[in-house]
Amino acid sequence: MRKVLVTGGCGFIGSNFIRLLHSEEADVEIINLDMLTYAGNPKNLADLEDSSRYKLVRGDIRDTNVVESLVGDVDWVVNFAAETHVDRSTSEKAGEFIETNVYGTYVLLDSLRRASPKARFLQVGTDEVYGDVPYPEFPDETARLEPSSPYSASKAGGDMQALAFQRTADMDVMVSRCTNNYGPYQYPEKLLPLFITNAFDDEPLPLYDGGTQIRDWLFVDDHCSALLLILREGKSGEIYNVGANQDPEVPNGELTQMILRATGKPASLIRPVEGLRPGHDQRYAVSTEKIRALGWSPSVDLEEGVEKTVAWYRDRRDWWEAIKSGAYREYYQKHYGKL
Ligand SMILES: NC(=O)c1ccc[n+]([C@@H]2O[C@H](COP(=O)([O-])OP(=O)(O)OC[C@H]3O[C@@H](n4cnc5c(N)ncnc54)[C@H](O)[C@@H]3O)[C@@H](O)[C@H]2O)c1
Repeated sequence: MRKVLVTGGCGFIGSNFIRLLHSEEADVEIINLDMLTYAGNPKNLADLEDSSRYKLVRGDIRDTNVVESLVGDVDWVVNFAAETHVDRSTSEKAGEFIETNVYGTYVLLDSLRRASPKARFLQVGTDEVYGDVPYPEFPDETARLEPSSPYSASKAGGDMQALAFQRTADMDVMVSRCTNNYGPYQYPEKLLPLFITNAFDDEPLPLYDGGTQIRDWLFVDDHCSALLLILREGKSGEIYNVGANQDPEVPNGELTQMILRATGKPASLIRPVEGLRPGHDQRYAVSTEKIRALGWSPSVDLEEGVEKTVAWYRDRRDWWEAIKSGAYREYYQKHYGKL
């Protein structure tokens, strides 16, 4: 039986990844180490609660004792745990981003080095580490890192820790760098779930920068299948970019129109917000030749993915309303207490 430690598995991508891993690999035991910050929700994996192959451990990746107790005989570690919201990193507590995204990654690697030096470690990274990418460039994995926000800078730090452990301790470490994800279970502070749920309730959609910014939106299942492929077939010490390579590229204004079409709501809901938000780049894009050479390609087209996502949020009002109303936080603080 393969033992896999997934960190941050109660968040958006981690929970989708655990569901995929659980269904694709019958002979796998999954431990999900998650601190349950505001972004972590055990309900994201309610369907696996009764599985004998899945266990949630509430704990912090920065806590050496907890991490050491879990990495003894693991085969794979997949590190999703992170502070992830750019606006939080520019407006408050950037220190937490550095503590979790850099120091937490170090604790995982150092504990693994001592307990299971042969285990495979995948650091789940972001394309935001390449910074603002002028059109028509598509940085490959060797491109210079130019992160613009404390969030992306901390993720770059995590990537560097991972690659340094591969070199200094000869560990089996890989890094992925994916473009912006969307899909089920994404916390409604992020663009798609915020706009979708606001549109349902006829609330304004705050569109920044004239809607001109470009992200290479990828449906979360496609990201998860790329991660599984990297774990199965990736090469130690390598970095793999992952992205949809939308052609033509889709600015946020056009994405907003797709959301309005899929929700059946009028363009009058759009509320243009003046000025640039600090740390937000104009365009992200990556070359994905390397992951495609491993046999991966995205399977969900953007318009179809937006419709699927809208349908999921329409069905799961129970999930996002609890978060937006704050009832969810209250419940979990009462239930699990503060860390
Ligand atoms: N969302 C995207 O578009 C995107 C794109 C590329 C890469 N990534 C990366 O993928 C990973 C997951 O992103 P997401 O959007 O699912 O994030 P998320 O914010 O939805 O989830 C983060 C999870 O990590 C947990 N966590 C935070 N700090 C922790 C700590 N110290 N110890 C243990 N658990 C902790 C949270 O409780 C939460 O469950 C992150 O590393 C992020 O940088 C995200």
